[in-house]
Amino acid sequence: MKINDWITQIKRVRNPRPNNSALLRCDAAERLNNFEPDFFQSFIQSLTQEDFITYPSFQDYETLKASIASHINLESEHIYISTGSDSCIKDVIQLTCSSGSEFISTSPCFPMYFVFAEMFKTRFVKVPYTQKSPPSVDSFLQAISDKTRLVILANPNSPVGDFRTKEEMNYLCAELEKRSILFLIDEAYIDFAPHDSLDLIKRYQNVLVVRTFSKAWGGAGARVGYLMGNKKLISWVSNLQLTYPITGPSLKYVLHLLNNKEVVEAYIKSTIQSRDSLCSILENNGYDVLRSHTNSIHFHEQNRNNQQSIDILEQHNVAFKSGNLKKGSRLSIPYDDRTTWIRMSVGPGIEYHSYIIEMLSAQR
Ligand SMILES: Cc1ncc(COP(=O)(O)O)c(C=O)c1O
Repeated sequence: MKINDWITQIKRVRNPRPNNSALLRCDAAERLNNFEPDFFQSFIQSLTQEDFITYPSFQDYETLKASIASHINLESEHIYISTGSDSCIKDVIQLTCSSGSEFISTSPCFPMYFVFAEMFKTRFVKVPYTQKSPPSVDSFLQAISDKTRLVILANPNSPVGDFRTKEEMNYLCAELEKRSILFLIDEAYIDFAPHDSLDLIKRYQNVLVVRTFSKAWGGAGARVGYLMGNKKLISWVSNLQLTYPITGPSLKYVLHLLNNKEVVEAYIKSTIQSRDSLCSILENNGYDVLRSHTNSIHFHEQNRNNQQSIDILEQHNVAFKSGNLKKGSRLSIPYDDRTTWIRMSVGPGIEYHSYIIEMLSAQR
């Protein structure tokens, strides 16, 4: 068959997940608890048959863009919406990269970056984490060749959770602009971090920022993400947009979230508090902890192989990520020999959940 053979070689990993119940879904950085029934019911009551029978209207997309625009203090022309930030990132890679080109990001990173690289026959150039501190900003510049078309950096980064300063981001934008290289800043976890980089899209010609409703906003199932950049970049990437990138019900759901921002803001505030408090509790109870500016953290029993903690989380049916000695799978962090780290998403009050209490008492 005459098909693109490089597509047949792409390896996709789709792990089954044990459950997606509230307070137990700790493997995908989603909102951990459910919304109040009244809040969700008022969205359900806004749905009509037409939302499912008909295509969304272009006016509906404009309404969503206008609502996002007012949330972030930009004009609609600076915004591009698509099916999750996943799809926005793919569109930016397609805009810049093609066979024989290169793009740069960290290793580890959000795994879809290198899947997209393979789709577009582009070489993914890794800037590795090799020590406790994240790779220097100069290491991105050192990785540039005459084939480099794009640099992607998640800030905060995932899965490690580190956060770049304003100065670092500014420096990278300026250096990449001098070299005419597009810089995509992935802000999937920005709500859990000290500040964003949105002002950089006004200051530099080569900068795009991507965000999602999947994490802090509690909308992973709606699949809505958006890109922000100068009007020229946004109009170019819009040439790649699907006719109807977001479904009618998803549009309504995300508008409901934007219209009730205070509900989301309260969730973010308590998630940050609980994240930091859980990290301290773990540190004081025999765990090594990798603190994070996202809503996921890593931890490992200081003097043991983490099996006891993994067993307790599994007994409680918690969905989480881990390296597993029994199954031979590996979850490592870059500068540590241990392959059995636990990665867990956090949310309000997680430090009081029975599985955490049990884990802590097993350490004593
Ligand atoms: C850093 C980062 N970027 C982008 C995404 C994609 O999220 P979504 O497609 O749900 O918007 C994820 C999801 O885990 C992520 O971790």
